[in-house]
Amino acid sequence: MKALVLAGGAGTRLRPFSYSTPKQLVPVANKPVLFHCLETLRAAGIDEVGIIVSGSGAAVRTAVGDGARFGLDITYIPQEEPRGLAQCVTLAQPFLKDDDFVMYLGDNVFVGGIQESLQAFRENGAAAELVVSKVADPSAYGVVEVDPEGRVTGLQEKPVRPASDLAVTGVYFFTPLIHEAVAGIRPSWRNEWEITDAIQWLVTHGHPVRAHAFTGYWKDTGTVPDLLECNRVLLEDVVPGNEGVVDNVTEIVGPVVIGPGARVERSRIVGPAIIGAGCTIEDSYIGPYTSIGSGVRLGNAGVEASILMDRASVHDVRSIEASLIGRSVDVRPSTVPATAHRLVVGDDSKVEVPA
Ligand code: DAU
Repeated sequence: MKALVLAGGAGTRLRPFSYSTPKQLVPVANKPVLFHCLETLRAAGIDEVGIIVSGSGAAVRTAVGDGARFGLDITYIPQEEPRGLAQCVTLAQPFLKDDDFVMYLGDNVFVGGIQESLQAFRENGAAAELVVSKVADPSAYGVVEVDPEGRVTGLQEKPVRPASDLAVTGVYFFTPLIHEAVAGIRPSWRNEWEITDAIQWLVTHGHPVRAHAFTGYWKDTGTVPDLLECNRVLLEDVVPGNEGVVDNVTEIVGPVVIGPGARVERSRIVGPAIIGAGCTIEDSYIGPYTSIGSGVRLGNAGVEASILMDRASVHDVRSIEASLIGRSVDVRPSTVPATAHRLVVGDDSKVEVPA
């Protein structure tokens, strides 16, 4: 079986990060979301993967390469404009040929793997098998109606009045019939070729579509709160280890990973937390559920339940929490005596200061 991974799209909900990096490359637990996806596919025994990339896809190509280090054989499929999930299937048809395949949204994380769903697809011979999960707010997702036998009887994309609380997650198993279905639909009101419409086409034309309830943790990492929550859940399973240098007055509590070449002095670290390679942490507090990328510098800083990307630095600011801090961002108090905040922040950034 092949996999089609969707790593294009506009990423508007993840600005400003998505201005400089595809949203699928934002790290959770110090690893791009897309890498979690590729590892999940490999663990399910899939090794032939097509990746939809936006434009030339340079950033994804640089990060993932030919896939050898994931044990995968990767083909890149450029998409000029993000015109919907079903358009991605059309673009990938020369790669997919007449094979069954799993379509995997590259901004989704599945803890616990997708083997069970794959098994269900292989056993029940449906035209499509959707991995579904109960959610509190179904209106943010594709929603399915399912009969007591697990057959899908109807779908809607982000409905104002959802017919059920079962969301379509980011994993779909398809037979080649999906190509006929995609050819049979028209763009939606938002001018996108919706995969939910193509799946509804299968249902309407009498082809069996089934829903498989996902039992592990699933997250669409489309927003900052989603990324922070996902980071939190992934860190729960962190295996502690120290490849850096920690002085003897530093206190480490709970599971903490310290990367190669990192130096930690006069600090307190409460896990679960990860500190990347080559970081310098001095006189600082790192609280639970924090992922710190490579080459980060903290001096007299306090950070918790946050993600700090590579080369960020924080000095003399002790109360950072629930924050997503981008690459090479510098946070520190003003050097001139002033009661005002002096901010240099990119478009669509969000700054919250004490009232
Ligand atoms: O996460 C589950 C949800 O994903 C489903 O419940 C919805 O039915 C489905 O439409 C989708 O909704 P989103 O609004 O989350 O889709 P998003 O635009 O974030 O795109 C999903 C992934 O596909 C993301 O990695 C970007 C990529 N993509 C998206 C579009 C529209 C592309 O590669 N090309 C595209 O044209």
